[in-house]
Amino acid sequence: MRYAAIVDRLANEGARAWDIHDRALAHRERGRDVVVLSIGDPDFDTPRGVVDAMIERVRGGDTHYGWIDGGPDLKAAIAAYRERHSGQRVGPENISVTLGAQGGLYGAAMCVAQRGDEVIVPQPAYVTYESVVRATGATMVDAPLRAERGFHLDAADIEAAVTPATRAVMINTPHNPTGAAYGRGDLLALAEVCKAHDLWLISDEVYSRTLFDAREHVSPATLPGMAERTVAVDSLSKSHAMTGWRVGWTVGPEAFTRHMYHLGLALHYGPPTFIQSAAAAAFAGDFPEVDAMRARYEARRDLVREALAGNRRLRVVKPEGACFMMLDIRPSGLSSHDFSHRLLEDAGVSLLAGEGFGAGGAGFVRLSLTASDADLAEAVRRIDRFTRALDA
Ligand SMILES: Cc1ncc(COP(=O)(O)O)c(C=O)c1O
Repeated sequence: MRYAAIVDRLANEGARAWDIHDRALAHRERGRDVVVLSIGDPDFDTPRGVVDAMIERVRGGDTHYGWIDGGPDLKAAIAAYRERHSGQRVGPENISVTLGAQGGLYGAAMCVAQRGDEVIVPQPAYVTYESVVRATGATMVDAPLRAERGFHLDAADIEAAVTPATRAVMINTPHNPTGAAYGRGDLLALAEVCKAHDLWLISDEVYSRTLFDAREHVSPATLPGMAERTVAVDSLSKSHAMTGWRVGWTVGPEAFTRHMYHLGLALHYGPPTFIQSAAAAAFAGDFPEVDAMRARYEARRDLVREALAGNRRLRVVKPEGACFMMLDIRPSGLSSHDFSHRLLEDAGVSLLAGEGFGAGGAGFVRLSLTASDADLAEAVRRIDRFTRALDA
């Protein structure tokens, strides 16, 4: 039987980046001792108050069809949260609740890009972006995030990638996989490019609550003239350790949000009702766990940096946020693909190869901080031993 062309556009390098993670899980299944640092799933529990709210709603019978793009309580809670943490004032007409940030990214791309369009994505980039952009029929155009700039965005690189076909730029700050957090200056320069070329900005902010060294999150939607062309995408997955709940949302112009409604109608007919209710509790609670998790990631970042500081076969890139670290393994003489595969086979640690995040990730591997301190310390010991063996 014949399939539509979209199936090939969805299966790409990004999807294959998970190969090593799948192999690590298979090793583990067979009883091998593997420290898995290849995925960004928080090792913390969802705050108890959210779990209790969900159970209460299920027991209370909140188990029928619900709102397609978020009920009024949840939208009001998201609007208040957005104002508290990003300073942007929005109403329910600007908010669409999605199945995780992933659902928001997909919806945003679908609503603004199509065949013949180009979407600029700074590389390295989170692995699903390619599928999301290509699903629309548009072409993904790379712009470099340069290691020598600490992987910070340079608006000049975005501008250089603009053509008459460019429709949107898709960014992520704090950034997966590099941990770079873009400052106001970089974002103001990017905003000028977007305005000059009449571009949408899709701004993935899933790590906005996980910033280190007392940094503050800057959402581009709050910059002059940007709210009408920005779609902010966020979720409870990382901030509240709720990856499995699939609660995300977009904040964008009113017309955009109406289009998202129609997409939700076709795609899922609304996120589960009892989960929407529990999510409203998550926003209202402002749980202390959220800040405690951020502090833990920061402490783990320091633990890894200190432990690997003397290693001359690699260099740690200091992340400013999110829950990952890039290791520059170019001094090891191995490609990041070979480094990560040999590290898994020889030392039992799984990290993702930087190439999986696009050409800009070559020479780097990504280590996730979402494992216990003890597991991280063990992984770092093994990485150290592995790289010292390369000398021999
Ligand atoms: C940058 C980035 N965006 C989006 C997502 C997807 O998040 P969610 O679980 O909310 O769909 C992730 C998950 O790892 C991510 O790292």
